[in-house]
Amino acid sequence: MTRLSGKVAVITGAASGIGASAAQRFAAEGATVVVADVDETSGKQVAAEIGGTFIRCDVTVESDIEALVAAAVDGHGGLDVFYGNAGVTGIQGPITGLDASAFDRTVAVNLRSIALGMKHACRAMQTQGKGGSIISTTSVAALQGGLGPHVYSACKAAIVGLTRSVAVEQAPFGIRVNAIAPGGTVTNLFASGEGLEGEAAAHLTAAIAEKLAHGQPIRRAGMPADIAAAAAYLASDDAAFVTAQVIVVDGGLTGAFSAGNLPDPNEQPAAE
Ligand SMILES: NC(=O)c1ccc[n+]([C@@H]2O[C@H](COP(=O)([O-])OP(=O)(O)OC[C@H]3O[C@@H](n4cnc5c(N)ncnc54)[C@H](O)[C@@H]3O)[C@@H](O)[C@H]2O)c1
Repeated sequence: MTRLSGKVAVITGAASGIGASAAQRFAAEGATVVVADVDETSGKQVAAEIGGTFIRCDVTVESDIEALVAAAVDGHGGLDVFYGNAGVTGIQGPITGLDASAFDRTVAVNLRSIALGMKHACRAMQTQGKGGSIISTTSVAALQGGLGPHVYSACKAAIVGLTRSVAVEQAPFGIRVNAIAPGGTVTNLFASGEGLEGEAAAHLTAAIAEKLAHGQPIRRAGMPADIAAAAAYLASDDAAFVTAQVIVVDGGLTGAFSAGNLPDPNEQPAAE
């Protein structure tokens, strides 16, 4: 497929998980991909595998985001797709124990970065004058309670509001602004959220994958490639009339019934 040929795409948080999978998918569909992350080792590896470029970018630092967009424009002749995907679990625990500084740090990674990414991507796309696609990673935790930590969920819900608001403003420029809400997806997010590495991280990820396989109507864990496929659609001209939307990719979790109320897959529906 060459849906993205001729397009330059920047993806943040592309050293791992959903972002790395999107980088692979975008490149396979013909895009020139700029892999952005704080993790230089894995980021460079992903970029090398897909023939892309790695730029070190801490999304909590506005000058890093500005330099990232400039690197795409100066190095590759433009910016067609900006996928703000970097995120962390951030502060966890009960609301009664909320630490204000940790709140600010979580918001800086998960929300402020998305707004600043939109700012600099829209500036570049407006200057270019040929529109573009901005995609952000939100979460099912934005849509229902109990699916993520409080501040994480709040940031992801705010991304939905930001997406719809900026989409209205940018439509006259031909810039489409959408978000993707993944359900539970097998990545390193859970282990890094617990501060785990190596074997302990692999053990927790395997346990989560097993749990996720039974958490929604489609009885398998969500995989990064599932989310990357939705991102490739939004990045492409197939989505030319799609803006201000949140595409939920969750195996039916939020659209069907609650995880605690799933029917037994071995039970046949009663005949009418
Ligand atoms: N995995 C899930 O179940 C799930 C569900 C819903 C939403 N999400 C969202 O998907 C996105 C990608 O997460 P993932 O699951 O692939 O996890 P991941 O941990 O595999 O990838 C996250 C990437 O973001 C990078 N990152 C973290 N802080 C950064 C910073 N300050 N600057 C630049 N890069 C930074 C990390 O180095 C890592 O490469 C996140 O926004 C996450 O909230 C994940």
